[in-house]
Amino acid sequence: MPKILVVEDNPGMRKMLVQALTEKNYDVAEVADGLEAANRIAAEAYDLIITDLKLPGLDGLEVLKKAKENNANTIVIIITAFGTVENAVEAMRQGAYDYILKPFSIKEVYLKIEKALSQQSIISENIFLKEEIRSRFGRLIGSSAKMQEVYQLIEKVAKSSSPVLILGESGTGKELVAREIHERGARKDKSFVPVNCAALAEGVLESELFGHEKGAFTGAVSQKKGRFELADNGTLFLDEIGDLPLNIQVKLLRALQEQEFERVGGTKSIKVDVRIIAATNKDLKKAIENGRFREDLFYRINVVPISLPPLRNRREDISELMAYFLQRYNKELHKDIKLSANTMGILTAYNWHGNVRELENVIERIVVLADKAVVEPNDLPKEFVSGASEAVSKQKGLLISEIEAIERERIRGVLEQCNYNQTEAASLLGLKRTSLQYKMKKYNLIKDEKGKKDV
Ligand SMILES: Nc1ncnc2c1ncn2[C@@H]1O[C@H](COP(=O)(O)OP(=O)(O)OP(=O)(O)O)[C@@H](O)[C@H]1O
Ligand SMILES: [Mg+2]
Repeated sequence: MPKILVVEDNPGMRKMLVQALTEKNYDVAEVADGLEAANRIAAEAYDLIITDLKLPGLDGLEVLKKAKENNANTIVIIITAFGTVENAVEAMRQGAYDYILKPFSIKEVYLKIEKALSQQSIISENIFLKEEIRSRFGRLIGSSAKMQEVYQLIEKVAKSSSPVLILGESGTGKELVAREIHERGARKDKSFVPVNCAALAEGVLESELFGHEKGAFTGAVSQKKGRFELADNGTLFLDEIGDLPLNIQVKLLRALQEQEFERVGGTKSIKVDVRIIAATNKDLKKAIENGRFREDLFYRINVVPISLPPLRNRREDISELMAYFLQRYNKELHKDIKLSANTMGILTAYNWHGNVRELENVIERIVVLADKAVVEPNDLPKEFVSGASEAVSKQKGLLISEIEAIERERIRGVLEQCNYNQTEAASLLGLKRTSLQYKMKKYNLIKDEKGKKDV
């Protein structure tokens, strides 16, 4: 039974709230001033606090502050008189969940409380408080259907030695996937050798790949093995292959076809057994049309293509990734920073054109810069917060729909996983069965008689 604290100095109003909430089966406590509220909050954990702004002792904003210091997950709803909306907005910037304007109907109070509590349960049970990160595939995080497909492909190709071409926007995890394929295959005890084809000048690249003999060119003072040789029996990762100069493409093609090559300045053929994984964020088909990429090389490397979806097309993964990076950087920096529900809402709704790398960088920056325990929307870097008060209400709107979208996806995924066995799904989600049924109804996730789910 959720525990609610009512903080209100007007006795009539307080009695009315307490009675109405008790009727709805909440466990309700009441206090008449801010100081007493602070004492109660320190002594006992409440799921939700509904407080007047103007109070004797401490005011509502200070009650809010105490509540958040004590437990960042406590939901605080502010009651305020019409004409003091500015204060309500300020309260929301400081972490209040919502506000109610006087005069209000008790129905409005019910609705806000129900909504707040249902969101809180999903945030705390399923996203934040879980230490372990769900559905981790090796080093890869994300349980969206799109990533599950990627994991299956990785599993399959890891068993073979066929060339793999990993495609995807910058920051989607191409290198991580390449390493995962290597780790899961028979070559895992041999080297994984990466070459960044875009980072090296044309002249250097050839000798980097194939090595050189002593005296092959000015500066070649001794013989040097290339990456192909270093990767013998292991995996060669040709990163940014779309940027490979055409004359090196010819040499690479030959090396791939024959599995043999000569060092620069050498005549002896060197035989190797190398598995090739290539990656690019370029459109190779277009590069072929423009004469910048050889078609024959494309067919050689594109035996098994794996496309990594951009993060904005698998938003379900954002909260998991956020929790993961937050945990990681907290550990690394010996901090314990948390994100408020509003902050998570904003980050989840963001477009992440730099994909997982951008998300990782933003979380790292947040953890490095945070000087308080709970990061609120106005602590975020500028690109996430625009304007003041009207932005807050806009973010609020985003937050609710976004969290609902996350929640629906998560519940749907688990239900499918359990074949719609509600007892099992409820236990996996950490929800009561009745709450699950309520949410299934709310999100239209009930199976119909034909055994097809109604979505
Ligand atoms: N699914 C994921 N789970 C955890 N971390 C990830 C995931 N995807 C990417 N990352 C992290 O994001 C960062 C970028 O990943 P990676 O370097 O593999 O991207 P990329 O696709 O090779 O990008 P680019 O094209 O810019 O080279 C890395 O720090 C990586 O660890
Ligand atoms: Mg990369």
